[in-house]
Amino acid sequence: MTIPLAALMARAVELARNGGRAVYPNPMVGAVICDDAGTILSEGWHQCCGGDHAEVDALKKLGRPATGLAMAVTLEPCNHFGRTPPCSHAIVAAGIKKVYIAAHEPTEKACGGCDYLTSHGVAVEFVPGFEAELAEINRFFYTTAKARRPWVTLKAATTADGFIAPPGGGRFAISSPEALVEGHRLRAGHMAIAVGAGTVNSDDPLLTVRLVEGPDPTLVIFSARLELKTDRKILDRAPIIFTTVADGGRIAPLAARGCRIETLAPGEGSIGRALKVLWEKYRINSLLVEGGAALHASFLAEDLVDEMVRFIAPLRLGEGIALAEPTEADRRFRQHTVSPCGVDVMKVWRR
Ligand SMILES: NC(=O)c1ccc[n+]([C@@H]2O[C@H](COP(=O)([O-])OP(=O)(O)OC[C@H]3O[C@@H](n4cnc5c(N)ncnc54)[C@H](OP(=O)(O)O)[C@@H]3O)[C@@H](O)[C@H]2O)c1
Repeated sequence: MTIPLAALMARAVELARNGGRAVYPNPMVGAVICDDAGTILSEGWHQCCGGDHAEVDALKKLGRPATGLAMAVTLEPCNHFGRTPPCSHAIVAAGIKKVYIAAHEPTEKACGGCDYLTSHGVAVEFVPGFEAELAEINRFFYTTAKARRPWVTLKAATTADGFIAPPGGGRFAISSPEALVEGHRLRAGHMAIAVGAGTVNSDDPLLTVRLVEGPDPTLVIFSARLELKTDRKILDRAPIIFTTVADGGRIAPLAARGCRIETLAPGEGSIGRALKVLWEKYRINSLLVEGGAALHASFLAEDLVDEMVRFIAPLRLGEGIALAEPTEADRRFRQHTVSPCGVDVMKVWRR
C-alpha cells in the first residue's frame, strides 16, 4: 500500500499552525506518526518555546514503542542540545524507521538531523509542495535564521490623501473600529512594537493589544537624542530604548524606572545595529514599527523592511505629516493583499 504522503504532511502543517505565537522565536512545527498503511497513530506539535518539539510530542502521545513506524514532520528534526535534547536522537531511540520532511533546518546550530538519522539507519525522504506555506507561517523564523535580525513590518493608518497626523503632529482619530481591531491583531502577532520619540512625546501611546486576546509585545523606542517627556506612560513598561546618548545623568532616571537603555554609536546603520541587538540580546523575532513618519523613513533608508501594512481611511486632511505609499518605481515591494476593513482599506506590501 502507498502511504498518502501529501495528506500526511498537510495534516502535519495543520498541526504546526497550532503553535502560533507561543513558540516564538522558534518555528511552528507539526508531526504525525503513522503505520505502513499511512494510518495516523499519533499527532504532535511544538506548543511553546522551551517545550517539547513536535517529534517528541508525537512520540510521547503515541504511548507505545514506535518501532517500525514512520513519521512525517514539517521541519528537519533538530540535531542539537538547546533547551531540549536533539529530536534526531529521540527518533532513533524510539525505533522510527522512516522520516518524511517538508523543509530543511536553516540554522547552523540545529542542522544535521537528516545526516544523523541516515547514519543511524533511519530512511529520510523530502516531501515537496509545502515550502511556500511553511515559509509563510515561519517567516519570522526564516528571517532570524538567514538575516540574523527580526522580521520588520511597518504599519500606519493614513487618510485617503496620505497623511498620518495633522500639521504639527498630535493624536488624530483616523481608523475605523474594524481597522483598530486589525491593528491590535497585528500587534499581537509580533514580539515587539517600535515607535519613534516624536510619537511617544506627541501621543503618549499605550501600544497594548487591548482589543484582542494575546500578550502585550515588548516595547521599543528609538530616540537618538533621548529627549523623552518624563510623564509618558510607556516609560513605566520596561521599553528597550535605542539612543546615541551616553550621558549617565540622562540615562540613570530612565534606567531606574526599568527602561532598558541601549546606546548605539552615532552614525550610519543605526537601525541595522539596533535590529541585531533586538535579535541577539533579546531574541525578538518580529518588530511592528508603528511610526511615525521619521522612524518609517529611517527603516526604509536602511532597506530593512519586510512588509508594509496601511489602513487607509476615507478621510482627507489636505495637509499634515505625510507617508507615501510604495510606488510602481519602488521595485523592492509588491502589493500582497488589498482588503476592506470597515470603511477603511487594508493594503499589504511584501518585499
Ligand atoms: N497614523 C499613524 O499610523 C501613526 C502612527 C504613529 C505615529 N503617528 C503620528 O506621527 C507623528 C510623529 O511622527 P514623527 O515623524 O514626527 O516622529 P517619529 O517618527 O515618531 O519620531 C521621530 C524620532 O524618532 C527618532 N529616530 C528616528 N530614526 C531614528 C534612528 N535611526 N535612530 C535613533 N532614533 C531615531 C528620533 O528621535 P530623537 O528626536 O530623540 O533623536 C526622531 O526625532 C505623531 O503626530 C503621531 O501621532 C501616526
